[in-house]
Amino acid sequence: VRSAKNSLPGASPIDGPKGRDLWDRADRVLPGGGIYLSRSARFAGDGVLPGFIADAEGCRVTDVDGKQYLDFVCANGPNLLGYGHSGVKQAYLQQARRPGSTNFYSPLLVELAEVLVDRYPGMDWAVLAKTGSEVLTLAGRVARKATGRPLIVAFDQAYHGSDAELSPWPAPGVPATRRDHVIRVPWNDVKALRTVADQHEGQIAALLLNSLDQNAFQPTFFAEPDFIAAIEEIRTRHGAALILDDVRQGFRLHPKGSHRALGLVPDLLCLGKGLGNGYSVSALLGSDALRDGARGIMFTSSLHFEQPPMRAAMATLDAYDNECAFEKMTRAGLRLREGLLAAARATGHSIDCSGPPTMPTLLFENDPDRSRVVGFAREAARRGAIFHPALNWFICAAHDDSAIDEALEIARDAMKVTPTAGA
Ligand SMILES: Cc1ncc(COP(=O)(O)O)c(C=O)c1O
Repeated sequence: VRSAKNSLPGASPIDGPKGRDLWDRADRVLPGGGIYLSRSARFAGDGVLPGFIADAEGCRVTDVDGKQYLDFVCANGPNLLGYGHSGVKQAYLQQARRPGSTNFYSPLLVELAEVLVDRYPGMDWAVLAKTGSEVLTLAGRVARKATGRPLIVAFDQAYHGSDAELSPWPAPGVPATRRDHVIRVPWNDVKALRTVADQHEGQIAALLLNSLDQNAFQPTFFAEPDFIAAIEEIRTRHGAALILDDVRQGFRLHPKGSHRALGLVPDLLCLGKGLGNGYSVSALLGSDALRDGARGIMFTSSLHFEQPPMRAAMATLDAYDNECAFEKMTRAGLRLREGLLAAARATGHSIDCSGPPTMPTLLFENDPDRSRVVGFAREAARRGAIFHPALNWFICAAHDDSAIDEALEIARDAMKVTPTAGA
């Protein structure tokens, strides 16, 4: 993992004295390195983005030294409606007056499962948890249990949570054989997919799919129609379950699940990140055909039943629909993309802005060592905007026109001082 280089200790020039002090303390008491991966600002490179965020509201964050930034990281996705969205916060706080976790089931567990099952046609049951990683691991187990088969076919480099078995990278600390039953195929490569399916006839429990190919340091690629058609055909012909990992793209590609944008109905659907607008709640949804698979597995935790995050999820879904969050994010993302392309033209840069409007990935052309994109991000952060140089950005519903215009002004200024390819 390239982020390992981000373990260098020391001060970050973008941080003020409080931030620098916190880095010193963090380097003493946290293991560092890649353990938190992109949740550390160092994943962007040392001294590129502010390391410690003290507060956040709407589409803005404030670092520990009191500097405010327009934010396009959105907590890596969970910030869907705006940090501290009042409806979600109130729902959470009201529930938090009562005990967080109690004995056995709560009515809220059933209510939220009902809301989710109603929201996603084809899904008949739901299991609630805290993180995307947990429900991805569970989805693989359900598919294997239901089909009695060992293999999962996933796509090159796609991240599906922190379970070592599903890691696209070497996973130190576990026997290498842990990953023997996950086969990776290049994205959009119909031939390779068919070959793998034929070679493993009768062995494939599931195809595990993100709705976009969206990996660190790379442009975003949409799924080609013939690729989707091949997935559908192979899944049917081979009797394999289709798992859609909608933890990252959920709510940002289609309001009712990214599979709707692809024209697929999965057998298992994984949700997380934006589901609770920043509170810890995730869900695995499944079709009736997979219900017995889920029944046969023990998956539980003392804290899965914590109620305030469930209440936050209910409020998030309500506000997302009632406040037309998807439309707002799409509009803001289009405005941002157009403005970035115009800024690049005006400053002599050639940029690649890929992905859907709600999750753009910005890269500079002819930037093999990534110095241009990293330099741009550092200059933008100095001027008050957080544009991640290694990951796709996220738009939230609180990015209004004036926030986007402000961000574009910063982007233009940052591009002006970023050396062009010919310089
Ligand atoms: C596509 C995808 N799946 C799963 C996960 C894991 O979710 P979590 O970080 O909530 O465990 C992530 C997190 O970034 C993700 O992007």
